[in-house]
Formats: sequence, structure tokens, C-alpha cells
Amino acid sequence: MDFSKKIINWYKKNKRKLPWRETKNTYYILVSEFMLQQTRISQTTIKHYLNFIKKFPSLEKLAQAKEKDVLKKWEGLGYYSRAKYLHSFAKKLKNDKKFFPNKYKELIKYKGIGPYTGAAIASICFHEVIPAIDGNACRVFSRYFGIFNDITSTITKNRFRVTVSKIMDFEHPGIFNQAIMDLGSILCTPKSPKCLLCPVQDSCFSIQNGTVYKLPVKKIK
Ligand code: ADE
Repeated sequence: MDFSKKIINWYKKNKRKLPWRETKNTYYILVSEFMLQQTRISQTTIKHYLNFIKKFPSLEKLAQAKEKDVLKKWEGLGYYSRAKYLHSFAKKLKNDKKFFPNKYKELIKYKGIGPYTGAAIASICFHEVIPAIDGNACRVFSRYFGIFNDITSTITKNRFRVTVSKIMDFEHPGIFNQAIMDLGSILCTPKSPKCLLCPVQDSCFSIQNGTVYKLPVKKIK
């Protein structure tokens, strides 16, 4: 069985149950990805997400909202610029009378949507084959492939994007990306990775070569 099949089978049995995974609504997924940027998922994040989509149930409703009301619903999550960018995304689409952009290249033109969030949205909502590479994914792939390059560098992240785009599941790229997120947060954790439970332990460079604790390499700037 290949890498992506093993990862996806593991995900099906072990995935975290999260409300934005129960929907195909593009707007809901957009909200969740804005909320999750640089954030660990907690009960607070989930509560904020549910309250937010209750108060602003569509892109149209969000576009009509006042900024102060949007910020109010974001209270407690921090990084308020994300809320402002999410709001301006909704307003801009409405003003320009545009449909929701359904391509990675279009999505990343908007402020607040970087390569990671763009890849998450494009793969989950539109099945585009683009790897979502953040710190967690870098840890998983550094260990799996035995890559000793500094993961804080953009060059390294771009290399991961090229490599991973070849091994990810072409039919279910959104599931693949979320499976890597869960593998990184449940098993391939920074301090006490649970390698014995890992679905790809047989082909992991770091397990074979004893480098699990040496990777990833992060240069302190
Ligand atoms: N972090 C960013 N996007 C996520 C998602 N869709 N599921 C879990 N964690 C995430």
C-alpha cells in the first residue's frame, strides 16, 4: 500500500471529530481555516467557530456586517487581523460581484490567505491537488523523508510542496491534507511521538535511522 492510502486509512479510523469536517459549505470551511491559522484547536476555537457561523451564516451576511460586530465575535481568539481580512474578503467579493474563488492561485491573491490556508481551502472545497504545508506538516515530512533543511525557510517549504504534491492522494487531496494535520497533532508530535502507532512507520526514514528526535531542523532567527 502506498503512503497516501496508509495515511488516509489511518485518518478514517482516528480523525478528530471537528464541526467544519461535517460540512461541504465553502463559506463555513473558509471561516474555519481563517480561525485555525497559527492556532491549536481547542474547545474555545470550536465554540467560536459555531458562534461565528450562527451570527454570520453566509458570506453575504458577513459582507453586510459591521466590522465591530465581526471583531466582537472574534473576541478571545486573538490575531484580530485575521477577522479583518476575512471580513474584507467577503466585502470584496460582494462589491466586485464575484463568485467564491475556486482556484488556489485566485485564493492566495486575497489578504489573509497565504499558501497554507489557500491550499487547505482549495483542496478541501475544490479538490485541488495542493499540499497544505505548515509547521506540523514540515515536522511529519522532515522525519518521514529524513530532510535536514531548516523548516523555517521558504525554500524548504517550497521543496516540501513539490515533493508532497507527487505523493498525495489525487482524488482526495483535502482528506490527505487533513490526515497529515491529524497525524502531526496526534502521533508525530514534537516531544513524544508515538511511532509504534504510526501507519507509515515501515517506510519512515527517521524510525529506521534514529533521527526522530533530531528532526525537524529549525534555525532560531
Ligand atoms: N488546521 C488548519 N486547518 C485545519 C483543519 N481543516 N482541520 C484540522 N486542523 C486544521
